[in-house]
Amino acid sequence: MHEVRAVVAKSKGAPVSVETILVPDPGPGEALVKVEACGVCHTDLHYREGGINDDFPFLLGHEAAGRVEAVGAGVTDLAPGDFVILNWRAVCGECRSCKRGRPWYCFATHNAKQKMTLADGTALSPALGIGAFAEKTLVAAGQCTKVDPAAPATAAGLLGCGVMAGIGAAINTGNVTRGDSVAVIGCGGVGNAAIAGARLAGARKIIAVDIDDRKLDMAVKLGATHTVNSKSTDAVEGIRAATEGNGADVVIEAVGRPETYKQAFFGRDLAGTVVLVGVPTPDMVLDLPMIEVFGRGGSLKSSWYGDCLPSRDFPMLIDLYLQKRLDLDAFVSETIGIDDVEKAFERMHHGDVLRSVVVF
Ligand code: APR
Ligand code: ZN
Ligand code: ZN
Repeated sequence: MHEVRAVVAKSKGAPVSVETILVPDPGPGEALVKVEACGVCHTDLHYREGGINDDFPFLLGHEAAGRVEAVGAGVTDLAPGDFVILNWRAVCGECRSCKRGRPWYCFATHNAKQKMTLADGTALSPALGIGAFAEKTLVAAGQCTKVDPAAPATAAGLLGCGVMAGIGAAINTGNVTRGDSVAVIGCGGVGNAAIAGARLAGARKIIAVDIDDRKLDMAVKLGATHTVNSKSTDAVEGIRAATEGNGADVVIEAVGRPETYKQAFFGRDLAGTVVLVGVPTPDMVLDLPMIEVFGRGGSLKSSWYGDCLPSRDFPMLIDLYLQKRLDLDAFVSETIGIDDVEKAFERMHHGDVLRSVVVF
């Protein structure tokens, strides 16, 4: 048993607190990971607010990289000292999605079987089955992907969630191809990662759309060739103006609101692709002229965790980072200590950061 400090959300809506928790030694199929860095994501806040479920107390944090400290029985492909990125989709290989060759939709993903607990023995629910705002965490071995240890943990960890979701929306779901025009609506951590992904894929034009000029400045650094502030310019007009009036081959929506979903539909070229990566809340309703969906042809795809396969995508993207072809450091707006997660939520809420990253 390991006694470590960790960020816990004890009850609905209450500020998080740093607690001493107990982490068991890894059992069969599990790995104990010494966390080195973990990004702060909207989903952590969502857990804290009770927006996911009521299984309080939650152990927050899920965008992390670190070193394997120990592995349990039967784990052959990981060893103590390995540098790993954690993922929340350790695929089972057995379910219908896995068997149909769509493992990114696996619905029986693996997590650690043993529970981490508060000092009084209360079981913790780890956010997305990870719980990495902790000096050490316990995961299923399949949640660890080995990557080149030359990459800093601050940058690597971000691939564990939001940045992978954005890059994957472009390269996996949207299948952006050399020469494409790509519009990205919403340029937070996820949208800016989609921009970086579009650049990697060889897009010719990348049109960044946001209501916040600070985000558009970031977008230019990451590869946007055009920017549209949709507070002052109509988003669809802006996308069309940048594409000879046509609309973009691929439009990626990274906000998750009805008005921006609509802009994505109207902003695509004939036979273009709409990729939805922004997550709506259950009460949101889209009202859209059906002829717009039908008449332009093309396709509509939603992107779940960037439709990524960690074992394929994490090592590849880390290699591209080390070759200076993908700037992951640009997403690290600040590094903070474990005591400052609540402040980071605040900054995230005000749109001040792409990512705050907790370092250990
Ligand atoms: N039009 C354009 N941009 C908008 C609008 C709007 N109406 N409303 C908000 N934005 C911009 C914000 O200014 C911000 O830059 O969208 C961006 C959202 O970024 P973040 O809040 O940093 O969120 P992010 O982590 O990028 O996630 C975006 O993707 O995976 C999902 O759950 C995630 O739904 C969320 C979305
Ligand atoms: Zn499966
Ligand atoms: Zn996340």
